[in-house]
Amino acid sequence: MCGIVGYIGSRDAWPIVLKGLKRLEYRGYDSAGIAVMDSFSQKIYKKAGKVNVLEDFAKELDCSGNVGMGHTRWATHGHPSDRNSHPHTSNSGNLSIIHNGIIENYATLKEELLNRGHQFASETDTEVLIHLIEEIQSIEGTDLLESIRLALNEVVGAYAIVVMDKNQPDRLYVARKGSPLVIGVGNGEHFVASDATPIIEYTKNVIYLNDNEIAVINKDELLIKRLDNVIQTPTIQELNMKLEMLEKGGYEHFMLKEIFEQPRSIRDCMRGRMYPELGKVQLGGIKEFANKLKNIDRIIIVACGTSWHAGLVGEYLIEDYARIPVEVEYASEFRYRNPIITEKDVVIAISQSGETADTMAAIEMAKDKGATIFGICNVAGASIPRISDAGVYTHAGPEIGVASTKAFTAQVTVLTLIAFYMAQQRGTLGTAELTELLTALDEIPDKVSLALESNELIKYIATEIKDATNCLFLGRGCGFPVALEGALKLKEISYIHAEGYPAAEMKHGPIALIDEQMPVIFIATKNSSYEKVISNIQEVKARKGIVIAIVTKGDRKVKDMVDYVIEIPDANETFLPLLATIPLQLLSYHIAVMRGCNVDQPRNLAKSVTVE
Ligand code: F6R
Repeated sequence: MCGIVGYIGSRDAWPIVLKGLKRLEYRGYDSAGIAVMDSFSQKIYKKAGKVNVLEDFAKELDCSGNVGMGHTRWATHGHPSDRNSHPHTSNSGNLSIIHNGIIENYATLKEELLNRGHQFASETDTEVLIHLIEEIQSIEGTDLLESIRLALNEVVGAYAIVVMDKNQPDRLYVARKGSPLVIGVGNGEHFVASDATPIIEYTKNVIYLNDNEIAVINKDELLIKRLDNVIQTPTIQELNMKLEMLEKGGYEHFMLKEIFEQPRSIRDCMRGRMYPELGKVQLGGIKEFANKLKNIDRIIIVACGTSWHAGLVGEYLIEDYARIPVEVEYASEFRYRNPIITEKDVVIAISQSGETADTMAAIEMAKDKGATIFGICNVAGASIPRISDAGVYTHAGPEIGVASTKAFTAQVTVLTLIAFYMAQQRGTLGTAELTELLTALDEIPDKVSLALESNELIKYIATEIKDATNCLFLGRGCGFPVALEGALKLKEISYIHAEGYPAAEMKHGPIALIDEQMPVIFIATKNSSYEKVISNIQEVKARKGIVIAIVTKGDRKVKDMVDYVIEIPDANETFLPLLATIPLQLLSYHIAVMRGCNVDQPRNLAKSVTVE
């Protein structure tokens, strides 16, 4: 939520910051702004709308300067407008700031500052922070680093900030708590960003700033301190990311590219973790807890959105194979309950971004109560892996489309491996059974490729239902989370109202919605609930609903009773979610494109939800 970029060096800062903002636009796209400075002047340009609105606006303007910072916003305090866009400036106009996060006590701070004669130009919490820094500087007579440190000690909330001072054109100040911040270390230059994507084309060397750290950055050197004033030694890490991963690679949208990447991403996720011929799963990230897994009482999975759907799949698999009771919780609800958690519980937190505020808060709470935390995350170095006791990366590669696709299937793959790993540790699966399951899992990437071959058919079906105002997605067993995920995908990118339900629940309410206008998408593959799903299909057809069924290749029975079928390859029921999700992703994608929606950046959404 909100993307921030900074540059200090010998090059022109504007194009670097602008390009960086485009890379980070998935984090929010309500408005954008950039400040650039050199020894002579500082210029700040900001506009409501996407980054290209700002780019067009500034085309003929003076954008010179070797120091710059930029922001792409997802509005929290104050509607999207030029005025509320970042950067914001202090009372004197000398200091400016960009910020990702929320200053929770901004109202109290603002009142005090108003009483001291400060005047505010925006409705944002961010502007309050830069005024506070300046106020402290004038009262205490401290230098800017110390003033920022003192101000941040007064702030409640989450932030990643970059601060510029007109009178110090050779440095940038940055700090973080609860929102990500990466510093790129180049040759005589430094970069700053919310994640590594704007940095990768300039340098692979990065420093992940830790919570409660503040840094002052020149082009050649930097100093990092903790908020308690202790100087820190920076650790430089090498990025394991390629520039091509951040490009559309010939696809019209990132979402389509990411859907088609899934044979590769699922394979990458399995690599080095399973040995079918030995009937063995090896998860280095959680191996130090291998013994603990033998005695745990319960697993609680916490996540939000699509990651929560992956968690539901995990519940089926872990209970089925490892015979451990599992509860799946929305992180946002879990964190505000007073759940019973003991040291014998393992909490699995799932998050593509690794930054979701609610999931992080749920982890902190469970940790305080003594649980062991496993993180499942896609972004290396993100906050969730850092606060977890152990974990498994999904290795799906950067996911740029705001609607999650390849991250979901990678999360499900990791959860499948975790279920097998736990079963292996607890002796609920033998080597022979594991060999069979892992051999079948090994075939899934190729089967996903086959499922993708239905793209043209799915595009045709999309033309038939694109004008619907409502859609129902129904499935049973592991098909139920798939139905939920299908409905979420459709509503978030096409703005068609959609609901996912367990198929059997339909007659307890949603059946009232069914008429000849209502597309109902069934997960009707040949598995243990096949016959029951067929009955549910008949109930819908009896009420003239339009039925689209995801079926196992070669199925004639369902074909004869529904309007459209989409075939997926036959596979063990355990792996159904990995295959049945693919046509649903494509269906949503094509419908959204046909409705003229912005597929990669749906309205009101952001990829990384760093506010609660
Ligand atoms: C939907 C989607 C969201 C995220 C949710 C959690 O396509 O992407 O529902 O799944 O915001 O995000 P992460 O996984 O980053 O914690």
